[in-house]
Amino acid sequence: MNSTKSLIQIALMATLIIILGLMPPLPLGFIPVPIVLQNMGVMLAAVLLGAKRGTLAILIFLILGLFLPVFTGGSTTLVVFSGPTAGYVMGWVIMPLVLAGLRQLLPSSQPLVIFALVWLSGVLVVDVIGAIYLAHYTHAALLPSLLSNLVFIPGDTIKAVIATIIGTRYRKQLGSD
Ligand code: BTN
Repeated sequence: MNSTKSLIQIALMATLIIILGLMPPLPLGFIPVPIVLQNMGVMLAAVLLGAKRGTLAILIFLILGLFLPVFTGGSTTLVVFSGPTAGYVMGWVIMPLVLAGLRQLLPSSQPLVIFALVWLSGVLVVDVIGAIYLAHYTHAALLPSLLSNLVFIPGDTIKAVIATIIGTRYRKQLGSD
């Protein structure tokens, strides 16, 4: 793949993640973590660009966030990494790698299989890492933290469906395997 083309794709994906962050956060009250749309951008980066370029897009987003309010609600990377939602963002960083690893274990181009793998890496892994970090951050017990994160599952599942539909449609054109 042409490296200029790759760089443009990575830059566009980082931009898309920022644009999705313009959707205002939906606060939940009982948990200091809002519902956001930005994690769908992370899923899209992983499905559309694969492990290397997807991770690079997310890292560029985080680097831009050192200087600009790129996160949902106008937060910056340092603010997010020192708050209750840091675990989710750590999950975002590894999501493309986890998805690629799962795809190697289960190589299939069946949309339902791809959806299952996107869900495991982009919903289950991210929400579990987020919940573990949240429990640590708030000095709460792990089980209630994990249970409170169930609130994200329906919305995150819809985001995984959308990312899978868009991803399976366009990933070949983008040079992903
Ligand atoms: C931030 O901007 O501080 C990061 C927010 C992380 C929110 C997480 S991502 C997974 C889960 N699904 C959501 O809609 N919200 C949480």
